[in-house]
Amino acid sequence: MPDKIIEVRDLKKNYGPVAALQGIDFTVYAGEIFGLLGPNGAGKTTTLEIMETLLRADSGSVSVCGFDVEKHPSEIKRRIAVQLQSSGYYPNLTLRELLELFSGLYNVKSNPQSLLEIVGLEEKGNARYKHLSGGQKQRFSICTTLIHNPEVIFLDEPTTGLDPQARRNLWKLIQSIRSKGTTIVLTTHYMEEAEQLCDRVLIIDSGKVIASGAPSDLIDNLVSEGFKREVSVKSASLEDVFISLTGRQWRNT
Ligand SMILES: Nc1ncnc2c1ncn2[C@@H]1O[C@H](COP(=O)(O)OP(=O)(O)OP(=O)(O)O)[C@@H](O)[C@H]1O
Ligand SMILES: [Mg+2]
Repeated sequence: MPDKIIEVRDLKKNYGPVAALQGIDFTVYAGEIFGLLGPNGAGKTTTLEIMETLLRADSGSVSVCGFDVEKHPSEIKRRIAVQLQSSGYYPNLTLRELLELFSGLYNVKSNPQSLLEIVGLEEKGNARYKHLSGGQKQRFSICTTLIHNPEVIFLDEPTTGLDPQARRNLWKLIQSIRSKGTTIVLTTHYMEEAEQLCDRVLIIDSGKVIASGAPSDLIDNLVSEGFKREVSVKSASLEDVFISLTGRQWRNT
C-alpha cells in the first residue's frame, strides 16, 4: 500500500446558514490521481481550499504531506501547488517573465525553457500571457505549479471550457506529471474524464460523501445491482468524430 499523503476526517464547514461540508472523510495515497466529483455546490472547491490551507474548517482534521492544516500551514504551502485561475497572472508579461517572477516568489531557481517544454509551450516563451488560447492558458497554469517541484498539485476544474483535443492533451500532461511521482487532486464535471484519468474518485453531494473508489469498481457495482442503459450506445461518439476529424496534437492557435 502506498503512503497516505492526505487524510481528511469528519470535515465540517458552514458558510452562515449553508452547511457546505457535513462530515467528509477520505484518504489520498502518494502518487495517485484523485478526483473530487459532485454536482454544483456539492462542496468540492470548499474541500480543496481547506486542503490548500486557504480556508479554515469549522471542525474535523486534515493532514497534507504529514502536516496538520491548522498547526503547520506554511510547511504544507511549501510542498503543494495550487493551479491559479487566469486572473492571477499579469497579462502583459511574457511566459518566460511570468515563470521568472513566480520562481522569485517561491525563492527557487528554475529553468523557464525546460518548464515550458514539459507542457508543450516551448515556442511560446516570448508570447504574452494574454495572447494564449484557452488550452494554452490552462497548460501554462499547470506549468507554474511545477516550478518548486511540489509533492501534491491541486487542480480545480482544469479542463472546463477546453475543446476535446485540448482536454485530452491536458489528461496526458497530468498523467505525465503523475508518472514522476507527484500526487494530483482534481475536480471535474466530466465523468469520462474522471473515468480515464483518476485512479480513485470521491463523489460528494450536499457536503456528504455518497461514494468512493476506483471508477471501474463503482461502475461494476452499479452493473451488479442490475443497472442497464436505457438506450443502446453506438461504438463511437460525436466526440470521437470530432477528434478524428480535427486531430489530437497540441495546437498553437
Ligand atoms: N464564500 C462563500 N460564502 C457563502 N457560501 C459559499 C461560499 N463558498 C461556497 N459557498 C456555498 O457552499 C456550498 C459549496 O460550494 P463549493 O464552491 O464548495 O461547491 P462546488 O462543489 O465546488 O461547486 P461547483 O461545481 O459549482 O464549483 C454551496 O452551497 C455554495 O453556495
Ligand atoms: Mg467548485
